[in-house]
Amino acid sequence: MRVLIIGGSGFLGTELVRQATAAGRVTAATYHSRAGSTPGASWHHLDLCVPRQIDEVLVSVVPDVVINATSGQSDWAVTADGSIRLAMAVTRRGCRLVHVSSDAVFSGARVHYDESCLPDPVTPYGAAKAAAESAVRLLAPTAAVARTSLIIGCGGSAHERMVHDLAAGTHDAVLFTDTVRCPVHVEDLARALLELATTERPGVFHLAGPDALSRHELGVLIAHRDGLDPTRLPTGRRADTRTPGALDVRLDSTATQSRMATRLRGAREFLRAGHDRHPDDRG
Ligand SMILES: NC(=O)c1ccc[n+]([C@@H]2O[C@H](COP(=O)([O-])OP(=O)(O)OC[C@H]3O[C@@H](n4cnc5c(N)ncnc54)[C@H](OP(=O)(O)O)[C@@H]3O)[C@@H](O)[C@H]2O)c1
Repeated sequence: MRVLIIGGSGFLGTELVRQATAAGRVTAATYHSRAGSTPGASWHHLDLCVPRQIDEVLVSVVPDVVINATSGQSDWAVTADGSIRLAMAVTRRGCRLVHVSSDAVFSGARVHYDESCLPDPVTPYGAAKAAAESAVRLLAPTAAVARTSLIIGCGGSAHERMVHDLAAGTHDAVLFTDTVRCPVHVEDLARALLELATTERPGVFHLAGPDALSRHELGVLIAHRDGLDPTRLPTGRRADTRTPGALDVRLDSTATQSRMATRLRGAREFLRAGHDRHPDDRG
């Protein structure tokens, strides 16, 4: 199976490339601004806003499976239009598409969301992700749309870096106590996406961990794992600020999990003290 990781230079993309090459897959990956460094893959520059470049990469790689792990944040031209353009090009070539989406497509009004729930985004980012989802499902009916939640790793995620900066007093922010998500480990998520890529199952899949935690609870777990003082982490309530975004969004991954071999661990398990430590703290 020839795998093409779009956004291979990103946080999730880097782990996808690492696992795909380690499994002996013929792996190609794209970057936009940061040249990918993971060995064993062929690297291609790609801007999803340039249609010609999408076709050039597909012609050059001839993939069986394409995983879209890009993030253009709230930039509609990348997150919505770019993903839709990619889905059209991949479908024309008859490849399998796995499109990575987000719990940001939900408002939090109903708290618990399974795969049957329809998007009701409250941020520009969530709206762009929701638009991409709908278009991918209509244009590429055989595609898998995989929604995930906060992605945590062995120190490499933005959230883990922020916890370190807050504990060191080098960053001025608070960790919300009223913003709840279901974090997933980047290794579990990449494994699950690659498993999904090898199937022909279409539709929407939820790939999040089973533990629902506030941003602050997650920060405390990271602090304990990395030997930081959790009392140094400032707290606040999103509801008391003007910060846009959903409060409590819990992706229910039960249905997807029951059909997968890959187990998605909860944050309380993968952040157990000493279990999966920050790279800077490893001996
Ligand atoms: N991180 C989370 O906690 C989280 C939570 C829920 C869902 N997700 C979803 O998971 C996926 C991966 O997120 P991530 O955190 O790994 O993202 P990331 O680290 O920000 O990586 C984004 C990737 O997209 C590429 N990219 C940006 N603009 C592009 C463009 N115009 N054309 C082509 N590629 C472009 C980047 O390339 P360069 O770096 O080379 O510029 C990079 O490879 C995304 O779909 C995101 O919505 C993430």
